[in-house]
Amino acid sequence: MAKLEIDSASVAYGDRTILESIDLNVNAGEIVCLIGASGCGKSTLLNAVAGLVPLRSGTILLDGKAVAGPSADRVMVFQDDAVFPWMKVRENVEFGLKIKGVPASERERIIDEKLLAVELFQAQHLYPRQLSGGMRKRVDLARALAVSPSVILMDEPYGALDAMTKERLQLQFLKVCTDTNATSLFVTHDIEEALFLGDRIVVLGRNPGHIANIIEVPFGVERPLELKRSGEFQRLRGEVADLIL
Ligand SMILES: Nc1ncnc2c1ncn2[C@@H]1O[C@H](COP(=O)(O)OP(=O)(O)OP(=O)(O)O)[C@@H](O)[C@H]1O
Ligand SMILES: [Mg+2]
Repeated sequence: MAKLEIDSASVAYGDRTILESIDLNVNAGEIVCLIGASGCGKSTLLNAVAGLVPLRSGTILLDGKAVAGPSADRVMVFQDDAVFPWMKVRENVEFGLKIKGVPASERERIIDEKLLAVELFQAQHLYPRQLSGGMRKRVDLARALAVSPSVILMDEPYGALDAMTKERLQLQFLKVCTDTNATSLFVTHDIEEALFLGDRIVVLGRNPGHIANIIEVPFGVERPLELKRSGEFQRLRGEVADLIL
């Protein structure tokens, strides 16, 4: 059984169909990247999985159970920081755990673990305004990971970062996903990012949004940055670019 099963899912706003009959299974531990033109419905699909947008028809199952609304088993990370500016890094990571009712001693252990995973342990007593943009994204990720979600929904999380910071966070994301066997749906505009992170790339077409193509990414778990410079990577990059036009 797939971790996440999206079956004939359609979404409409009023009488306008945004997503038409989406079929997609995501396996445990898999990173599936969603790519497609602006407005084709990528965020809407994430919102549907998050339970923030109702389906017009079809089903979304997580571990075999129908998604019926938002829950901590599906967390979202956005391009804009979601950190609370009035809370220190550590308190930001703790927030979701408190809401979940996790006991204090257990909270401390989980926070330490996630701060170490995103390399923010040293920065735990700083406020968001004292962090760089890349560090704030790492707080977002630590916060998402802290509640042990079944699926991490990433909506262009690194879209606003400079190229070097982005690469560093991509590497870290891959490592964290491997270490925790996380399952993720990752929306990006960046073909290189999709190829570097994804086990599969789903290309969405528009009007209404539908799955136009699915590309199996032939790279293994070990993905050093040099992979991006390889001939095979660049060839695939061109292939995916042609599919999006
Ligand atoms: N709350 C809403 N009410 C009505 N229409 C909406 C709403 N949210 C999104 N839409 C419409 O749904 C379509 C898909 O939007 P969505 O945000 O999912 O696109 P996207 O693929 O994420 O685009 P981008 O790459 O620009 O982020 C757009 O045409 C948008 O105008
Ligand atoms: Mg979007």
